[in-house]
Amino acid sequence: MNRRGGYPLGVGLDRRRVLAAGLAAVGTGASFSTPLPCQAAPAALRKLAAEKGLLYGTTISAAQISGDHEFVDLVLQQAGLVVAENDMKWQDMNRGALGDDNYGPADTVAAFALENDLALRGHNLLWYHRTPGWFFDLTTRQEQEHAIIERIQRLAGRYRGMVHSWDVVNEPIEPKDGRPDGLRTDVFLETLGADYLDLAYRVARETDPSARLVVNEYDVELDAPEHEARRTALLHLLEVMRRSGTPIDAVGIQAHLTAVGGPPFSAPPLRRFLADIASLGLTIQITELDVTDERAPADVTVRDRLVADTYRRFLDAVLDEPAVKMVVTWGLSDRHSWIVRRETYQTKWRADDASSRPLPFDADLEAKPAFDAIVGALAHTPQRSPG
Ligand code: XIL
Repeated sequence: MNRRGGYPLGVGLDRRRVLAAGLAAVGTGASFSTPLPCQAAPAALRKLAAEKGLLYGTTISAAQISGDHEFVDLVLQQAGLVVAENDMKWQDMNRGALGDDNYGPADTVAAFALENDLALRGHNLLWYHRTPGWFFDLTTRQEQEHAIIERIQRLAGRYRGMVHSWDVVNEPIEPKDGRPDGLRTDVFLETLGADYLDLAYRVARETDPSARLVVNEYDVELDAPEHEARRTALLHLLEVMRRSGTPIDAVGIQAHLTAVGGPPFSAPPLRRFLADIASLGLTIQITELDVTDERAPADVTVRDRLVADTYRRFLDAVLDEPAVKMVVTWGLSDRHSWIVRRETYQTKWRADDASSRPLPFDADLEAKPAFDAIVGALAHTPQRSPG
């Protein structure tokens, strides 16, 4: 059992190789341990979470690890788990052909976790949205199966024994695609049918038996027909997986939330959904929590309060369910958020010129009301067994 997370950690050759490769990339064998220069250190979310049997974590990137030591210190102070925001995604790693992947940034993130005794989430093995272009030219079942198996064996095999949880398939549900089972008719499903899910989870289990295997999904949190449809379809998928013996351990709820102007939120439907997942013998992870302030007023005090209220209401609801074992925010500081970066992939940014403030710490690494909201929710939640 590991000191912080309580998960098995392999100590074989892989671990040493990745550690060495990753640290060479970082350019130092030392962990970052300088205290924050500015204010008195706030409470550490990882400690408050651990006291309740929960893991708290954040995204990080190889670029941040080597380029923003001040931010890294904050991560080390606050997080008990890290996940690569993009560095382990297939399209981000791949150089244009099957098997030609660049493991440098991914190794840096894995080595950072190992060196600092942090749990590591693997994100992700398959995601239709970040699949290399050449995969779309594979038209036969045999070719696609081969590529999927290679991808999973290479990546999950490289970090075997080091990963707390793998998002094996990211976002497999899309009720709008019109199938009775609610599955997304993506590039995998079109050629392989729903069997691609069973294949991916079985290969992942064989490759790294100690990693928890997760299905990670978005837009399942709110009181909107689309969210309800996605919840129903996801539950159906989980039931099918359980019945057919597909190895799955946990559900990831992304939780990209909106402070103002989104669909309404109320706790009971979400709690029922979480209880239904738990009744299937699965644990639950909140995997990508952030709160966009895109339609909140410009006044920063008001905005921060609305964002914090959203964190608090959501966390109070989900942490009520003892099967929830993990909370990961999609970033820790507004300095590094996909919303603030205004990436083309998403559109949750403000119409005015103001920078968004979606995370617990601001761009100067000062704790915000959202941080206090998380602290409050953690303080309030019952203790549970770690999972
Ligand atoms: C996002 C990253 O934050 C961006 O930097 C990238 O451009 C696109 O992906 N759901 C997921 C995450 O599962 O991988 C996404 O991350 C956010 C939505």
